[in-house]
Amino acid sequence: MDKGFFITFEGPDGAGKSTQIDRLKLFFTERDLDVLYTREPGGTDIGEKIRKLILDKENIEMEPVTEAFLYASARAQLVRQVLKPAIKEGKIIVCDRYMDSSTAYQGYARGLGDAVAEINKHAIDGLLPDLTFLFILDPEIGKSRIAVESYDRLESQNFEFHRKVAEGYIEIAKNNDKRFVIIDATKTPDEIWNEIRGVLADKLGI
Ligand code: TYD
Repeated sequence: MDKGFFITFEGPDGAGKSTQIDRLKLFFTERDLDVLYTREPGGTDIGEKIRKLILDKENIEMEPVTEAFLYASARAQLVRQVLKPAIKEGKIIVCDRYMDSSTAYQGYARGLGDAVAEINKHAIDGLLPDLTFLFILDPEIGKSRIAVESYDRLESQNFEFHRKVAEGYIEIAKNNDKRFVIIDATKTPDEIWNEIRGVLADKLGI
């Protein structure tokens, strides 16, 4: 491959993204392809500090707009420090969440709407994923897959919040159907992996 390729994974909490991300990393590594894995919020020293601040359950007074700016700040750092240089070097990037998470969680679920796109325009500086796997799961099932004791600040939100996240994602996918691939997260890990393999074969010829 002579040009980088940027893959993101999106979906509600507890949808099984990480299992597939691990498989994908292994798949690329076994083929000696230069793959860079990262996650949001985080992926840089500054981003990881921002991540702690955002997910800290003690920060109950955080305003939705503050939250949106914090995610975007971590992203701005990741884009410049990690993602753009990697793309330039021709690497494949696998990123656990990116801008679409902000549109779903802060835009749709927190109700900030278009302000999220505006804030993120500066953060992403034109860098959009080439391919996005969206894991779709009934919000009830998603929540039941995570142990209550380990909920972070976002996971502790009520059912209504998670329903809005799920609906938001569907809208985003509809509006960006060229780069989105929808995955039914109730399928078995092997079935899901076969679908992902098919898409890679199609898009990257591997
Ligand atoms: P994380 O533990 O990484 O969740 P997951 O393992 O499900 O990816 O926590 C990230 C949380 O932050 C998750 O609840 C989604 C939320 N989030 C946003 O609300 N906006 C964003 O822009 C991003 C990147 C994540």
